[in-house]
Amino acid sequence: MGEFVKACKKSEIPDGAGKRVQVNGKEIAFFKTQEGVCAIYSVCPHQGGPLEEGGITDQVVTCPWHGWEFNVTTGECTFNDSIKQPTFRVKEEGEDVFVEA
Ligand code: FES
Repeated sequence: MGEFVKACKKSEIPDGAGKRVQVNGKEIAFFKTQEGVCAIYSVCPHQGGPLEEGGITDQVVTCPWHGWEFNVTTGECTFNDSIKQPTFRVKEEGEDVFVEA
């Protein structure tokens, strides 16, 4: 378990897409969802596409390179149970977003 580290402000995360922040050497993509801000490893396991540049609908982000989809709250790939992208715990304090990384 890591410590919670301040990553960004909520207002810096665009609507319908994500924001990449490097935290403790990890590339993490932050997305706003109805359940709050979620954090997922930003490098697509297919060929390294930037998940933060993908569109997000109902917690599912679509990789902009070849369309693989991941649930940003669980990391699960929508079409292959054996693929799971790492996710990170997030804490929000007002406008500030903290992540455990
Ligand atoms: S790199 Fe993400 S789908 Fe191919």
